[in-house]
Amino acid sequence: MTKIKKLHYPDDFVNQFICGNVIDVMKQLPDDSVDLVVTSPPYNLKNSTGNGMKNGRGGKWSNAALINGYSHYSDNMPHEEYVVWQRECLSEMLRIIPDDGAIFYNHKWRVQAGLLQDRNDIVYSFPVRQIIIWKRKGGINFNPGYFLPNYEVIYLIAKPKFKLAKKANAYGDVWEFGQENKNKHPAPFPLDLIERIISSTTAKIILDPFMGSGTTALATKNLGRNFIGIDISPEYCEMALQRLENPRSIIRDKKTTKSEPKQATLFDVHWRPNENIYKR
Ligand SMILES: C[S@@+](CC[C@H](N)C(=O)[O-])C[C@H]1O[C@@H](n2cnc3c(N)ncnc32)[C@H](O)[C@@H]1O
Repeated sequence: MTKIKKLHYPDDFVNQFICGNVIDVMKQLPDDSVDLVVTSPPYNLKNSTGNGMKNGRGGKWSNAALINGYSHYSDNMPHEEYVVWQRECLSEMLRIIPDDGAIFYNHKWRVQAGLLQDRNDIVYSFPVRQIIIWKRKGGINFNPGYFLPNYEVIYLIAKPKFKLAKKANAYGDVWEFGQENKNKHPAPFPLDLIERIISSTTAKIILDPFMGSGTTALATKNLGRNFIGIDISPEYCEMALQRLENPRSIIRDKKTTKSEPKQATLFDVHWRPNENIYKR
């Protein structure tokens, strides 16, 4: 693991986890230095109009991962500040990919105060080429007022010369992959989803600037490609490092896995059946 200091490309970056602030680290990457970015930023989930995640103690939310959030980040910015931050991140990502590079940017749409947050405020003016719906399988949701939320949105933001690998276009634009629910990280990607993305391209160096438990790194290893991983949490960087050596090291111990709901991650909304969401 490389601590943040003056970093030199490629040695300090390629196949390294860099523990530091996403913008500070990306600013040290030269133009055209990565072929592809695959990432899922924090969704600002604790900045929310109508649920118990807001107070950070959990409120109505039953799950430990939800209550605790990320180890070194609160995920609770004023919305406008969050949008500015994410746009700055996207600008850096766009700067460091070449003319045939692309960014797969995973996010979640949600309704806040009766209005759809479709993340257009984040991605407008970037070269969004296509939207892929990631349909998660199964899941649970006890809230009788809502259908089970089970999709996320992957923005393919591409420079003009970006092309998919041969035959990858046959996958279509709705992808079904089960949720990763054994990982100790509170909001991990499923490995097979990331392998689908990476193998759909010919990229050799893939950056995940919000690397978390290192799913993107493991996918590059499995596919014979190279990664650059950034995360602010030393805990997650360590987790990712260990995972590359031993993919099973990130699995939650059985006791925890058993007592938690199936979709025990920050991506989901869990509501205890005996709590009334309408009582304030
Ligand atoms: C949605 S998670 C990514 C999970 C990852 N895709 C995986 O499979 O494990 C977002 C990550 O962003 C990290 N993060 C939050 N703020 C950050 C910042 N300013 N700089 C770098 N990483 C940050 C969090 O620690 C968290 O691990």
